Amino acid sequence: MNPLLLLHAFPLDHRMWDAVETLLTGFPGVFAPDLPGDLVHGEPSLEAVADAAAEQLRAAGIERVVVGGLSMGGYIALALLERHPDLVAGLALIDTKSTADAPEALANRLRIADEVETSGTVDAVRPMSGVLLGETTRTLRPEVTAVVDRWIGEQNPAAVAWCQRAMAARPDRTDVLRAFDGPVRVVVGDEDTVTPVAAAEHLVSAAPHARLVVVPHAGHLTAIEDPAAVAEALSELLP
Ligand code: MLT
Repeated sequence: MNPLLLLHAFPLDHRMWDAVETLLTGFPGVFAPDLPGDLVHGEPSLEAVADAAAEQLRAAGIERVVVGGLSMGGYIALALLERHPDLVAGLALIDTKSTADAPEALANRLRIADEVETSGTVDAVRPMSGVLLGETTRTLRPEVTAVVDRWIGEQNPAAVAWCQRAMAARPDRTDVLRAFDGPVRVVVGDEDTVTPVAAAEHLVSAAPHARLVVVPHAGHLTAIEDPAAVAEALSELLP
Protein backbone atom coordinates (compact mmCIF):
# COMPACT_ATOMS: atom_id res chain seq x y z
CA MET A 1 0.00 0.00 0.00
CA ASN A 2 1.51 3.37 -1.01
CA PRO A 3 1.23 6.66 0.88
CA LEU A 4 -0.29 9.74 -0.72
CA LEU A 5 1.40 13.03 -1.62
CA LEU A 6 -1.04 15.92 -2.05
CA LEU A 7 0.14 19.08 -3.82
CA HIS A 8 -2.02 22.15 -3.43
CA ALA A 9 -3.24 24.88 -5.79
CA PHE A 10 -2.17 28.52 -6.06
CA PRO A 11 -2.59 30.81 -4.12
CA LEU A 12 -3.52 28.44 -1.30
CA ASP A 13 -1.86 25.99 1.09
CA HIS A 14 -2.29 22.48 2.50
CA ARG A 15 -5.58 23.42 4.19
CA MET A 16 -7.36 23.06 0.87
CA TRP A 17 -6.93 19.26 1.30
CA ASP A 18 -8.36 19.10 4.85
CA ALA A 19 -11.87 18.02 3.84
CA VAL A 20 -10.53 15.44 1.37
CA GLU A 21 -8.16 14.01 3.98
CA THR A 22 -10.96 13.40 6.47
CA LEU A 23 -12.68 11.23 3.84
CA LEU A 24 -9.67 9.12 2.86
CA THR A 25 -9.19 5.60 4.11
CA GLY A 26 -6.55 3.08 3.17
CA PHE A 27 -3.50 5.26 2.53
CA PRO A 28 -0.80 4.42 5.10
CA GLY A 29 0.24 8.08 5.26
CA VAL A 30 -0.70 11.42 3.71
CA PHE A 31 1.84 14.16 3.03
CA ALA A 32 0.43 17.59 2.19
CA PRO A 33 3.27 20.13 2.25
CA ASP A 34 2.88 23.89 1.96
CA LEU A 35 4.51 25.03 -1.25
CA PRO A 36 7.17 26.13 -1.62
CA GLY A 37 8.15 26.81 2.02
CA ASP A 38 7.97 23.25 3.40
CA LEU A 39 10.22 22.01 0.61
CA VAL A 40 12.44 24.70 -0.95
CA HIS A 41 13.61 28.28 -0.48
CA GLY A 42 15.86 28.96 -3.48
CA GLU A 43 15.16 30.32 -6.94
CA PRO A 44 11.59 29.83 -8.21
CA SER A 45 11.40 26.37 -9.79
CA LEU A 46 8.69 23.70 -9.83
CA GLU A 47 11.45 21.21 -10.62
CA ALA A 48 13.20 22.12 -7.36
CA VAL A 49 9.92 21.51 -5.50
CA ALA A 50 9.60 18.10 -7.17
CA ASP A 51 13.20 17.18 -6.34
CA ALA A 52 12.82 18.27 -2.72
CA ALA A 53 9.59 16.28 -2.36
CA ALA A 54 11.32 13.21 -3.75
CA GLU A 55 14.25 13.69 -1.42
CA GLN A 56 12.02 14.06 1.65
CA LEU A 57 9.97 11.01 0.73
CA ARG A 58 13.08 8.88 0.21
CA ALA A 59 14.57 10.18 3.47
CA ALA A 60 11.38 8.94 5.17
CA GLY A 61 11.96 5.50 3.63
CA ILE A 62 9.18 5.87 1.05
CA GLU A 63 9.94 4.36 -2.36
CA ARG A 64 6.54 4.74 -4.06
CA VAL A 65 3.68 7.23 -3.64
CA VAL A 66 0.34 8.05 -5.14
CA VAL A 67 0.49 11.73 -6.15
CA GLY A 68 -2.52 14.03 -6.25
CA GLY A 69 -2.02 17.55 -7.56
CA LEU A 70 -4.61 20.26 -8.04
CA SER A 71 -3.79 22.90 -10.66
CA MET A 72 -0.30 24.18 -9.66
CA GLY A 73 -0.02 20.92 -7.71
CA GLY A 74 -0.67 19.05 -10.95
CA TYR A 75 2.13 20.96 -12.69
CA ILE A 76 4.46 19.83 -9.88
CA ALA A 77 3.13 16.26 -10.02
CA LEU A 78 4.12 16.10 -13.69
CA ALA A 79 7.57 17.54 -12.88
CA LEU A 80 7.94 14.82 -10.24
CA LEU A 81 6.87 12.17 -12.73
CA GLU A 82 9.42 13.43 -15.25
CA ARG A 83 12.31 13.60 -12.81
CA HIS A 84 11.49 10.72 -10.44
CA PRO A 85 9.30 8.30 -12.40
CA ASP A 86 10.22 5.38 -10.13
CA LEU A 87 8.49 7.14 -7.20
CA VAL A 88 5.09 7.57 -8.81
CA ALA A 89 2.70 4.64 -8.33
CA GLY A 90 -0.41 6.50 -9.47
CA LEU A 91 -1.44 10.00 -10.38
CA ALA A 92 -4.51 12.16 -9.79
CA LEU A 93 -4.43 15.26 -11.98
CA ILE A 94 -7.13 17.53 -10.61
CA ASP A 95 -8.30 20.75 -12.29
CA THR A 96 -4.98 21.07 -14.06
CA LYS A 97 -3.29 20.83 -17.46
CA SER A 98 -0.03 19.57 -18.97
CA THR A 99 0.62 22.45 -21.36
CA ALA A 100 2.83 25.51 -20.81
CA ASP A 101 1.50 29.08 -20.55
CA ALA A 102 0.70 31.11 -23.63
CA PRO A 103 2.91 34.25 -23.85
CA GLU A 104 0.14 36.54 -22.56
CA ALA A 105 -0.60 34.37 -19.51
CA LEU A 106 3.11 34.09 -18.79
CA ALA A 107 3.57 37.87 -18.92
CA ASN A 108 0.57 38.28 -16.63
CA ARG A 109 2.12 35.92 -14.06
CA LEU A 110 5.36 37.90 -14.01
CA ARG A 111 3.42 41.16 -13.69
CA ILE A 112 1.50 39.79 -10.70
CA ALA A 113 4.71 38.46 -9.12
CA ASP A 114 6.28 41.93 -9.39
CA GLU A 115 3.15 43.60 -8.03
CA VAL A 116 2.90 41.29 -5.02
CA GLU A 117 6.58 41.71 -4.25
CA THR A 118 6.56 45.50 -4.64
CA SER A 119 3.44 45.98 -2.52
CA GLY A 120 4.41 43.35 0.06
CA THR A 121 0.75 42.29 0.05
CA VAL A 122 -1.35 39.66 -1.67
CA ASP A 123 -3.80 42.27 -2.94
CA ALA A 124 -3.13 41.36 -6.58
CA VAL A 125 -4.43 37.79 -6.04
CA ARG A 126 -7.10 38.55 -3.43
CA PRO A 127 -10.00 38.56 -5.95
CA MET A 128 -9.06 35.10 -7.25
CA SER A 129 -11.80 33.18 -5.40
CA GLY A 130 -14.20 34.71 -7.92
CA VAL A 131 -12.38 32.81 -10.67
CA LEU A 132 -11.35 29.67 -8.82
CA LEU A 133 -14.72 28.69 -7.37
CA GLY A 134 -17.53 27.56 -9.63
CA GLU A 135 -20.61 29.62 -10.22
CA THR A 136 -22.80 27.23 -8.20
CA THR A 137 -20.52 27.41 -5.16
CA ARG A 138 -20.23 31.19 -5.39
CA THR A 139 -23.99 31.57 -5.67
CA LEU A 140 -25.22 28.99 -3.16
CA ARG A 141 -22.38 28.62 -0.64
CA PRO A 142 -21.02 32.03 0.41
CA GLU A 143 -19.36 30.38 3.43
CA VAL A 144 -17.04 28.49 1.04
CA THR A 145 -16.12 31.73 -0.74
CA ALA A 146 -15.41 33.30 2.66
CA VAL A 147 -13.02 30.48 3.64
CA VAL A 148 -11.14 30.62 0.32
CA ASP A 149 -10.92 34.43 0.55
CA ARG A 150 -9.50 34.11 4.05
CA TRP A 151 -6.93 31.49 3.01
CA ILE A 152 -5.80 33.60 0.05
CA GLY A 153 -5.50 36.64 2.33
CA GLU A 154 -3.29 34.65 4.70
CA GLN A 155 -0.70 33.70 2.08
CA ASN A 156 2.86 34.99 2.26
CA PRO A 157 3.43 37.56 -0.54
CA ALA A 158 6.96 36.25 -1.17
CA ALA A 159 5.61 32.71 -1.63
CA VAL A 160 2.89 33.97 -3.98
CA ALA A 161 5.50 35.73 -6.16
CA TRP A 162 7.75 32.66 -6.01
CA CYS A 163 4.98 30.35 -7.22
CA GLN A 164 3.99 32.66 -10.08
CA ARG A 165 7.57 32.82 -11.35
CA ALA A 166 8.03 29.07 -10.98
CA MET A 167 4.79 28.32 -12.86
CA ALA A 168 5.73 30.79 -15.60
CA ALA A 169 8.92 28.84 -16.31
CA ARG A 170 7.33 25.39 -16.65
CA PRO A 171 7.47 23.55 -19.98
CA ASP A 172 4.77 21.49 -21.70
CA ARG A 173 4.82 18.06 -20.01
CA THR A 174 2.21 16.25 -22.11
CA ASP A 175 4.86 13.78 -23.32
CA VAL A 176 5.77 12.93 -19.73
CA LEU A 177 2.18 11.87 -19.13
CA ARG A 178 2.11 10.00 -22.42
CA ALA A 179 5.03 7.85 -21.24
CA PHE A 180 3.46 6.99 -17.84
CA ASP A 181 2.39 3.38 -17.56
CA GLY A 182 0.58 3.72 -14.20
CA PRO A 183 -3.04 4.50 -13.36
CA VAL A 184 -4.26 8.10 -13.76
CA ARG A 185 -7.43 9.80 -12.61
CA VAL A 186 -8.20 13.14 -14.23
CA VAL A 187 -10.69 15.14 -12.18
CA VAL A 188 -12.32 18.38 -13.29
CA GLY A 189 -15.23 20.50 -12.15
CA ASP A 190 -17.76 21.02 -14.92
CA GLU A 191 -17.78 24.75 -14.03
CA ASP A 192 -13.96 25.06 -14.07
CA THR A 193 -13.10 28.05 -16.26
CA VAL A 194 -9.36 28.10 -15.38
CA THR A 195 -8.50 24.60 -16.61
CA PRO A 196 -11.77 23.58 -18.24
CA VAL A 197 -13.08 20.15 -19.19
CA ALA A 198 -11.26 20.41 -22.56
CA ALA A 199 -7.92 20.61 -20.71
CA ALA A 200 -8.88 17.50 -18.72
CA GLU A 201 -9.86 15.67 -21.91
CA HIS A 202 -6.45 16.55 -23.33
CA LEU A 203 -4.81 14.92 -20.28
CA VAL A 204 -6.97 11.81 -20.65
CA SER A 205 -6.12 11.49 -24.32
CA ALA A 206 -2.39 11.64 -23.51
CA ALA A 207 -2.28 9.25 -20.54
CA PRO A 208 -2.41 5.57 -21.58
CA HIS A 209 -4.36 4.45 -18.47
CA ALA A 210 -6.55 7.39 -17.48
CA ARG A 211 -10.13 7.75 -16.39
CA LEU A 212 -11.94 11.09 -16.53
CA VAL A 213 -14.08 12.20 -13.58
CA VAL A 214 -16.21 15.28 -14.27
CA VAL A 215 -17.56 16.73 -11.03
CA PRO A 216 -20.93 18.41 -11.44
CA HIS A 217 -21.60 21.89 -10.01
CA ALA A 218 -17.94 22.46 -9.11
CA GLY A 219 -15.37 24.92 -10.42
CA HIS A 220 -11.56 24.88 -10.31
CA LEU A 221 -11.31 23.90 -6.63
CA THR A 222 -13.06 20.51 -6.64
CA ALA A 223 -11.12 19.40 -3.54
CA ILE A 224 -12.89 22.17 -1.62
CA GLU A 225 -16.18 22.26 -3.53
CA ASP A 226 -16.77 18.48 -3.63
CA PRO A 227 -14.18 16.74 -1.44
CA ALA A 228 -16.02 13.41 -1.58
CA ALA A 229 -15.62 13.21 -5.36
CA VAL A 230 -11.90 13.92 -5.09
CA ALA A 231 -11.41 11.48 -2.19
CA GLU A 232 -13.13 8.76 -4.21
CA ALA A 233 -10.90 9.38 -7.27
CA LEU A 234 -7.79 9.25 -5.07
CA SER A 235 -8.97 6.06 -3.37
CA GLU A 236 -9.26 4.39 -6.78
CA LEU A 237 -5.48 4.72 -7.05
CA LEU A 238 -4.87 2.48 -4.05
CA PRO A 239 -3.55 -0.89 -5.25
C1 MLT B 1 -4.01 27.13 -9.40
O1 MLT B 1 -5.17 26.91 -9.09
O2 MLT B 1 -3.06 26.50 -8.89
C2 MLT B 1 -3.72 28.19 -10.40
O3 MLT B 1 -4.90 28.65 -10.95
C3 MLT B 1 -2.82 27.63 -11.43
C4 MLT B 1 -2.39 28.63 -12.44
O4 MLT B 1 -2.30 29.83 -12.15
O5 MLT B 1 -2.08 28.20 -13.58
